[in-house]
Amino acid sequence: MLTAKLSPSMMCADIFCLADTIRTFERMDIPYLHMDVMDGSFVPNLMLGTDTIRQIRRSTAIPLDIHLMIEEPGEKLEWFAPREGEYVSVHVESTRHLQRVLAKIRSLGARPMVALNPATPLVMIEEVLPDVDAVLVMTVNPGYAGQSMVPGTLEKIRRLRALLDGRGFEGVEIEVDGNVTPENAIRMRAAGANIFVAGTSLLFRPGDMEDHIKLFRRQVG
Ligand code: DX5
Ligand code: ZN
Repeated sequence: MLTAKLSPSMMCADIFCLADTIRTFERMDIPYLHMDVMDGSFVPNLMLGTDTIRQIRRSTAIPLDIHLMIEEPGEKLEWFAPREGEYVSVHVESTRHLQRVLAKIRSLGARPMVALNPATPLVMIEEVLPDVDAVLVMTVNPGYAGQSMVPGTLEKIRRLRALLDGRGFEGVEIEVDGNVTPENAIRMRAAGANIFVAGTSLLFRPGDMEDHIKLFRRQVG
């Protein structure tokens, strides 16, 4: 079973406490920072531009996990200057040339991840399994924090893990994004997910950030 990893959703962070939040993540060995990029067209919201990403990248050695919720990501990859060790996820619904975009992410030195909206069937990514290091299963409809998990997505995670393992892609990780509460995280882990985007449901909520991280690690691993 792949190691459970937290990827805090930085769109949910309090910008007035950002530096302290990142220091806490460094102290707690958080492996990724999830950066939701939204263009107002692919999703009905605008979020985390290129300057914000550059500034956060300059402020810490924690690798970024860049989630591109934008139209035609293949034409804009260089805008984000992806680095080795970073994940870059693109939505299957956002480009006609998915395999080319995933190959380009790899050629830029980053790790390709393909993302699926809740209504998009797994069959849409079957041909690109050899081109990715991870699959991002949206457990909410993308665009906003604070939503509830789409019920059928839990079973979708289970089917995806079975598909990956059945095709010999046991090392391909599954990231889940949206309404990852402590309770949902346990169910998502049991279904086969191992990277957990942590937003207002898990980390950015009342209480002590370190306690939230420790609780997750006790319950999920
Ligand atoms: C949804 C975002 C998620 C969200 C997670 O489009 O991509 O990252 O911020 O936060 P919660 O926990 O509020 O769903
Ligand atoms: Zn995201």
